[in-house]
Amino acid sequence: MNKTVHSYHPLLVLLHWALALVIVGSLCYGFFVLGPTTNADPSKVDLLRPHMAIGMAIGALTLLRLVVRIFTSKPQATTSAGAAQVRLAGAVHVGLYVIVLGMVASGFAIAIAAGLPDIVFARSGAPLPADFSRFTARTMHAVLGLALVALLALHVGAALVHQFVRRDAVIRRMWFGQRFEKE
Ligand code: HEM
Repeated sequence: MNKTVHSYHPLLVLLHWALALVIVGSLCYGFFVLGPTTNADPSKVDLLRPHMAIGMAIGALTLLRLVVRIFTSKPQATTSAGAAQVRLAGAVHVGLYVIVLGMVASGFAIAIAAGLPDIVFARSGAPLPADFSRFTARTMHAVLGLALVALLALHVGAALVHQFVRRDAVIRRMWFGQRFEKE
């Protein structure tokens, strides 16, 4: 029996909002706390620890989200959106996955290049490198972070236009509630 799907799978909804929270939190923490703290600062190792742990959790949860997205039914595009808009929205969504995974991969690459697993997690007591800027992955991490801010602004802006200008209740699709209606 065919059923119309009104919203995303509850696990996907949960992962969407949980990841939104921790990704925005990690961006703020990275730009406003980690970036401005020099590696000579004695608190730097303790500041890096939660960022790296949460960053790796973001990677694992993003991969889980991708699997749930592929294997669960999703609602049709909203009727108020034209074909070009649907394609643009699709490209932004793919871009978000790619950039988030790119952030995790580049963060991981800085960690390996700078020997951070031993210093930060095994508490070896070895000093941090004078600064991370000599690692290419550090530059990539910063550039991807800025690209992520731009894409998130586009994503949130589009959702708000749908919700409050077109009034097609697009945010309800990414919330909990009755998913199916029999045709
Ligand atoms: C989606 C996940 C992540 C986000 C959103 C994120 C965000 C950020 C941001 C915004 C910065 C500061 C960039 C700047 O000041 O220009 C930063 C720095 C950094 N991040 Fe991440 N990050 C993520 C994952 C990771 C992971 C998984 C690791 C390591 C395992 C990591 C390790 C680092 C390191 C070592 C720095 C450099 C800090 C410094 O230069 O003082 N990040 N991150």
